[in-house]
This record gives sequence, structure tokens and C-alpha cells, in this order.
Amino acid sequence: MAEKFLIEQAENLLRLPARPETPIVLMYTNDQRHRAEIYTEWCELRQVEEPMPVDVPSLYLDYQGIALCSPGNKRPFRLAEQNLHRRSVGARKGELARACGLNQGDLSILDACAGFGTDGLTLSMLGCPVTLVEREPLIWILLRDFARSFDNADVIFMDCRELLSLDATWDVVYLDPMFPERKKKALPNQGLQHLRYLTQDARADADLAELIQLGLSCANNRVVVKRRLKDPMVEGVNFQIKGKSVRFDIYLKK
Ligand SMILES: C[S@@+](CC[C@H](N)C(=O)[O-])C[C@H]1O[C@@H](n2cnc3c(N)ncnc32)[C@H](O)[C@@H]1O
Repeated sequence: MAEKFLIEQAENLLRLPARPETPIVLMYTNDQRHRAEIYTEWCELRQVEEPMPVDVPSLYLDYQGIALCSPGNKRPFRLAEQNLHRRSVGARKGELARACGLNQGDLSILDACAGFGTDGLTLSMLGCPVTLVEREPLIWILLRDFARSFDNADVIFMDCRELLSLDATWDVVYLDPMFPERKKKALPNQGLQHLRYLTQDARADADLAELIQLGLSCANNRVVVKRRLKDPMVEGVNFQIKGKSVRFDIYLKK
């Protein structure tokens, strides 16, 4: 598949993340040593009996896979396939699938701001080949490990702007950059709270309009942008699909 080739090329060209100056700590149980060693290049490995308290976000690997350990949280946080299964039931008729145009078939999708992959992997469960891109190394490792049982999902580490500047195409480019913090008192779900915490020091998001233009240059069919209901709209939207708290803005390829 052409996309697969380009992804491999992109991985080779733009490589995997270099070991950060302060490496990510990956704690692992003895029975998982071989699997932990895959991450030697990016993480400082520590063998433990059980997850230890941490001062900075860290990772913990046991027989269940890699989990996130956050300061102040005793229990590691795990991405749960069960939640995705639950979410994918009936999802073909849901807003996300309709926004991506899945009534036209199993389209190839680039989830350019993958986060914990909830949206991208739901689309993959619905039968679409999905490429997920994440620029934060710790989030990328969590997602990469979690998605290894999905045979139609590739998870790559990159700033999506670099990937969108390569000569590759997908049917749909899906964009869900981090929403700015809102003043509302209600907390978002646990996964989103962790994502916010992990990306709080991230570089300012690229101009959304720029991402949409880059997306349109790589999309055969459309760019879909997930936004909160009251967020401003970037010019050029063809139509919108609204849910209870989010909406999808759809930009069709001309
Ligand atoms: C709101 S979260 C995405 C949530 C995701 N849709 C889900 O279902 O879990 C946004 C994610 O996009 C990532 N991100 C933001 N800008 C990016 C970029 N230019 N390239 C790659 N990833 C990016 C952030 O690091 C963050 O993890």
C-alpha cells in the first residue's frame, strides 16, 4: 500500500524520537524485561516489583502493557480497549463516522493529533486503515504499545506538519488539536485530564487554519476538525456535524 510505504519512509527519514534530555522513566516488572528493552533508546529503564510514586509523568510496564504513572496518582492509568469496543458499538452511525464520510466505505484516515487514540482507534475498529501521529514522546510510547494489537493502525512519532508536508495522501485527514483550557468547572474525563497535564508545556499549537490547509493538500476526500461547540470556526467549512459537547467541521477537497 502506497501510504504504508510512505509511512515507513517517513519513519526512516524523520526517525523515532531522540532520547529526551531528561529521559522518560519506564518501570517494568521482571517478566517484561525484553519488552521494556525495546524502549531503551527513549527511556531510562528501572526494574520494579510494583509501580513506584513519581515526581514527573512516567511509564510502567507489566503483563497488561504500558500504563501512565502521574505524580500524586497511586494507580497507573491505562488505555482500555474495552472502552473503545463500547464506543465503537453503533459508532458507524455516530457523529465521528458521519463526519469522516464512512458511509462511502472504509476510507484511509490520518489522525494527525492522535493523543490517546480514542477517535483514531475507534475508526480503525470500524474497519478503516488509520495512521496515528503524535508529537509527544511519552504519549506516543503509550499509544504505540496500546495499539500493537490493531493490525490496521500505525502509530508514528512526528509533528504532523512534517508528515503533511510529505508527498503522501489519505482519504480523510482528521484534526483534533488540544482545545484551550475552559473556564467551566466540570472536569473533562480522566483520559483528557491526563492528556492536558502531559501537553501543558507543549509548544503553542500551530495555527489551525495552517493545519487545515496542509491537511487539504494530503486529503483525497476531506479534512475533519473536532471542535467544542462554541469554538470559533475557521473559514471554508463545507458543513458541520454537531454532538452534545463537540462538533465536527468538514472541509471538502475541491
Ligand atoms: C486533544 S488531544 C487528541 C485526542 C484524541 N483525538 C483522542 O481521541 O484521544 C491532542 C493531541 O494532539 C497532539 N498534537 C498537537 N499538535 C500536534 C502536532 N502538530 N503533531 C502531532 N501531534 C500533535 C497533542 O500532543 C495531543 O496529544
